[in-house]
Amino acid sequence: MLATVSHRRDLSFSPSSTQNHPVLICVTLEKDCFGEDAETSTRDACATLRFALRGAKRLESCVHFFRYRYGQLHCEDVDLARVADKFGTPLYVYSAGTILDHYTRLNAALAPLDHLICYAVKANSNRAILRLLADAGASFDIVSGGELYRVLAAGGDPARCTFAGVGKSRQEIEYALDQRVYSFNVESEAELEYIDRIAGTKHSRAPVAMRVNPDIDPRTHEYISTGSRENKFGIALDRIPAAYERAAAMRNIDVVGVQMHIGSQITEAAPFAEAIKKVAPIVRDLKSRYPIQFFSIGGGLGIIYESSFESGAREWWDDTTIRSKSKRDRERKIALSIHEYVDAILPPLRELKLRILLEPGRLLVGNAGVLLTRVRYIKQTGQKKFAIVDAGMNDLIRPALYHSYHEIVPCKASSAADAGQGKNKNPTEKIDIVGPVCESGDFFALDREMPELHEGDLLAIMSAGAYGFVMASNYNSRPLPAEALVRGDRFALIRKRQTWQDLVRDEVEASW
Ligand SMILES: Cc1ncc(COP(=O)(O)O)c(C=O)c1O
Repeated sequence: MLATVSHRRDLSFSPSSTQNHPVLICVTLEKDCFGEDAETSTRDACATLRFALRGAKRLESCVHFFRYRYGQLHCEDVDLARVADKFGTPLYVYSAGTILDHYTRLNAALAPLDHLICYAVKANSNRAILRLLADAGASFDIVSGGELYRVLAAGGDPARCTFAGVGKSRQEIEYALDQRVYSFNVESEAELEYIDRIAGTKHSRAPVAMRVNPDIDPRTHEYISTGSRENKFGIALDRIPAAYERAAAMRNIDVVGVQMHIGSQITEAAPFAEAIKKVAPIVRDLKSRYPIQFFSIGGGLGIIYESSFESGAREWWDDTTIRSKSKRDRERKIALSIHEYVDAILPPLRELKLRILLEPGRLLVGNAGVLLTRVRYIKQTGQKKFAIVDAGMNDLIRPALYHSYHEIVPCKASSAADAGQGKNKNPTEKIDIVGPVCESGDFFALDREMPELHEGDLLAIMSAGAYGFVMASNYNSRPLPAEALVRGDRFALIRKRQTWQDLVRDEVEASW
């Protein structure tokens, strides 16, 4: 394989593209690139090559790039303590290599299909993350005008955006029409009529896919289950033929696709396969009547939360002995690999001979992010011990909202012997890890077995890359946390920490 590097952007090729191939990297410097510039470009090329080769070796054994090295938790080649010292805490840190690795592996597994991976922007909408994915060739699934604006600001292509959501406003529809999005994913017949009317007033045509509600139980948390009859999402299966007939007869609508999404954090392949099996015959029938170009099967692939740290190692996925272990261990191991997922969905989708769209959010960014937080106080009351940290439910609401589990690890391994193993073998104790917000629901872990914690310790809340920062709020007038991105041995701030001034900036005095 020959990789020609003529622009800094070209240096972003993914580790997986170097797998099993001899690589000759040829750095082509621009004509008037001399002296320091040339040196910088060459140094960049070498750093990226080092990262890529190391990545290629590690690829088969990793699903994320968080590791202990020399007793310190690293993200790729960066010591997380350094990032926290520079930007403060609470701080979200994302691994660009992990995001690109997930994207590349999913893309490669789907190679037998004509497909688009439409990253679900709602999972993490930081512009730097969107740019990373846009540069890797991703399309985008958006749910608001604001998300479309962000994708454009990140250099994304509106013609590769699908616009979902049950309550699109006139302003959002007009904006999406002006930007010529790939498709409106329509959630009701009322919305269909509204889009038709707005497109008419703009002398424009709206490309449309109806969202089918397949009435499937995705076996996930009730708040993130979307594909059953009781949910507000989509159009019931038995209404679909009539809805398409109406759409096809509308003056300003182009019927271009079919869409569904059954829920989020799904850790078995079966519900996906079941939904496809149920909807595929309808898609086939619609294709024979209307100019359907694509079938979007939504997102929803679950990630590892309970054994987040260990799941970074290939051996963890290969460890079949887990099946004979305790129920608790087996539950911790609930995981769906990209290959298991693709193996289950590929055969029925291939037969449709349509372009297939996927809308993964959590899968691409979830394991790629951590929330760094420092222990402020240790408090003992009766039998209970608390570590009060500087992050709160306003920074990461998932535990309070869904009672969801996040693994929490100290950034400094408690003994050198533990480094690289993710588990500290020193004495542990049960402790609640809680935030400073005035709510009993403000916790990250309850009665969690942890190594002894001390004031000032830096902790990493794992698997916080998806539905983390995007759900953060200013509750208790706490400024939003900062975000940083790591790539190889470099790191950068990708969102400034809010200040107290920011909290009141948009408030105005009543005029009376
Ligand atoms: C329509 C749609 N597509 C995609 C997603 C992304 O889901 P996930 O992040 O679980 O992949 C969602 C999430 O709620 C969604 O509602």
